Amino acid sequence: MPNDRFLITGALGCIGAWTVRNLVREGTPVVVFDLASDPRRLKLIMSDDELVRVTFVTGDITDLEALERALDEHAITHVIHLAALQIPFVRANPPLGARVNVVGTVNVFEAVARRRDRIGRLVYASSAAVYDAVDAGESGVVAHGAAGHPTTLYGVFKQANEGTARVYWQDAQVASIGLRPYIVYGPGRDQGLTSSPTKAMVAAALGKPYHIPYGGRAAYQYADDVARTFIACARASFQGAEIFNLGGSVATMGEIVAAIEAAATEVRGLITFDDKPLPFPEAFDAAPLEQVIGTLPFTPLAQAVAATIALFRERIAAGMMPDSI
Ligand SMILES: NC(=O)c1ccc[n+]([C@@H]2O[C@H](COP(=O)([O-])OP(=O)(O)OC[C@H]3O[C@@H](n4cnc5c(N)ncnc54)[C@H](O)[C@@H]3O)[C@@H](O)[C@H]2O)c1
Repeated sequence: MPNDRFLITGALGCIGAWTVRNLVREGTPVVVFDLASDPRRLKLIMSDDELVRVTFVTGDITDLEALERALDEHAITHVIHLAALQIPFVRANPPLGARVNVVGTVNVFEAVARRRDRIGRLVYASSAAVYDAVDAGESGVVAHGAAGHPTTLYGVFKQANEGTARVYWQDAQVASIGLRPYIVYGPGRDQGLTSSPTKAMVAAALGKPYHIPYGGRAAYQYADDVARTFIACARASFQGAEIFNLGGSVATMGEIVAAIEAAATEVRGLITFDDKPLPFPEAFDAAPLEQVIGTLPFTPLAQAVAATIALFRERIAAGMMPDSI
């Protein structure tokens, strides 16, 4: 869209890097707003020519003024808010987790509320971690709008953000869409509790063994698909404050390992896992999101796993990735 100017918080992370890549490839100006300054995930999936078209702002979402400055200096029209600390980092430092994940999100809502004339809505990352495994009920599939009972502080903080969104709509008419990814996989997914399947894909590209510390059945979402979904939501003419689950490929860990082995036959038998499930539901009803953005971006599991391993092989051969996991 000719006049769109996106700012992505946490854009140096996995989903952020794919979001930036998609926007750059379609020719949309994009500002990376991130506390970190290492663009390694962007470099993994983008060419040097693409990278020079990105504007980088080193900034902290807990600093409202810095965020507002970035929005105004770059005349931002669309905001995707991804910056957060993931489960292990929140567990290691809960007060910092609350400051970044909760206060930081309030700051993003506040900054957008003050610029409602220019920024139509906010799209932000919530998480499937707002749910406990039992929230799926007997069907095994979490219904749209189901109440969540998070068992981690990370999930509690994400749930708080969903409440923040609801009240910013009620009090200040800030329209928002929250998306709840579950297991995001693909190049760039290198940290967080659910990064192990992607680390196993790195191991496969290296021809090395790898042990995944959990198993069970879960919804796997390819990072590129997730990024495209965030972008589509940012452009949807949506009013209100709604939160959507994401679909993806529901698969057992055995099926994930089989997809890895199919793409890298040399590691057959070398990728192992503990068959204990994660404490989250297995599957989610994402159909209501189609009413907002149409057909959901979706790459079949086997194709996405093969593309991920192929990219890792290429980057390892080029000396752009370490030869250990
Ligand atoms: N990856 C998943 O499987 C998954 C699942 C559910 C929800 N999510 C959510 O999606 C979002 C993106 O996830 P990801 O996997 O890309 O995360 P990531 O950990 O790869 O990246 C997060 C980014 O946020 C940045 N950041 C941290 N604190 C910041 C601060 N104070 N100010 C500015 N930037 C800061 C980090 O530097 C990092 O670049 C997060 O909100 C996460 O909670 C991810």
